[in-house]
Amino acid sequence: MVDVYHDKDIDDKILEGKKVAVIGYGSQGRAQALNMKESGVDVVVGLRPGKSWERAEADGMTVKRVIDAAEDADIILMLVPDMAQPTVWAEEIALAMKPGKALQFAHGFNIHFGQIKPPEGVDVIMVAPKAPGPEMRRQYEQGFGVPALIAVAQDATGQAKDKALAIAKALGSGRAGVIETTFKDETESDLFGEQAVLCGGTDWLIRRGFKVLTEAGYPPELAYFEVLNELKLIVDLIYKSGISGMYAAVSDTAKFGGMTVGPMIIDDRVEDNMRVALKAIQNGDFAKGWVDDYNAGSKEFRRLYDECKNLEIEKVGKKVRQMSGLEK
Ligand SMILES: NC(=O)c1ccc[n+]([C@@H]2O[C@H](COP(=O)([O-])OP(=O)(O)OC[C@H]3O[C@@H](n4cnc5c(N)ncnc54)[C@H](OP(=O)(O)O)[C@@H]3O)[C@@H](O)[C@H]2O)c1
Ligand SMILES: [Mg+2]
Repeated sequence: MVDVYHDKDIDDKILEGKKVAVIGYGSQGRAQALNMKESGVDVVVGLRPGKSWERAEADGMTVKRVIDAAEDADIILMLVPDMAQPTVWAEEIALAMKPGKALQFAHGFNIHFGQIKPPEGVDVIMVAPKAPGPEMRRQYEQGFGVPALIAVAQDATGQAKDKALAIAKALGSGRAGVIETTFKDETESDLFGEQAVLCGGTDWLIRRGFKVLTEAGYPPELAYFEVLNELKLIVDLIYKSGISGMYAAVSDTAKFGGMTVGPMIIDDRVEDNMRVALKAIQNGDFAKGWVDDYNAGSKEFRRLYDECKNLEIEKVGKKVRQMSGLEK
């Protein structure tokens, strides 16, 4: 079993008198900045002028340009999108890096795949909350937290791990549990999870289920409820009480059908495909493809995202959610 740290195991005195810069105010940046501030951390937000700047100020944050925020800070949290990080690093943060400071990530991509190479003398750490930013914020506001992974890529001060633990505690993650890992393991398992199961796997399971039902003549609204809407209810059950706990709550017919037909749908070929995806993550092919597409203007990224927005299930879904008051 891995070591799990909770609030009582974490000494956050290390943050006393230290300033923390949150670079970026999006999904993670906003949630992390607000949680830390409410935990008593001295937070400054680093941005370029624009929408995020206005939002951060409206939230009562101190906002500065990236380079100025990084200049002021002892610990710098890199919370702009992964693909934007190398430029923000090279053009601004790197200029403000001094020995003894810490550079912190919420995902190991740019360090693990060598897109950012921090100098010796600075701590390079990670605190990766295992939830989307808004969910992390919601849980903190309710007195809970989401689990987080911490890792150290470079320990220049001898205090790198203590800094990561203290930040994790300030984010509320010490209430849920903090697990130590490596940049390599976090990066590769995070990419695999989001590609094979969470985002990619779930997306395509839904798309294919919807296609099969509607092609067979069932009404799209009905198909939407069966393969998408109800998925949330099932996942909530699994989240709360595991797979067998979910089966305990559905009918015996659903139990028998699920357990017999499930492995026929998600068959050995799917597992082989997952191994191919994992290989491409481990050997850097996926990272190269993503960085290349971004550098060429994100053409493939945008094409696929547009295609997704125009799916029939998206149109049906919007209508159904509006009808039921879920969406305006
Ligand atoms: N999304 C998640 O829940 C999640 C979960 C775990 C880990 N992570 C990791 O957290 C990191 C941040 O991801 P995210 O999804 O939170 O990012 P995001 O929401 O897409 O970040 C957008 C923010 O970055 C700012 N930004 C973008 N380019 C910038 C630039 N060149 N200079 C200054 N600011 C810039 C944006 O400001 P403007 O308004 O000015 O564009 C905006 O405030 C990533 O490493 C990601 O892998 C994310
Ligand atoms: Mg991820």
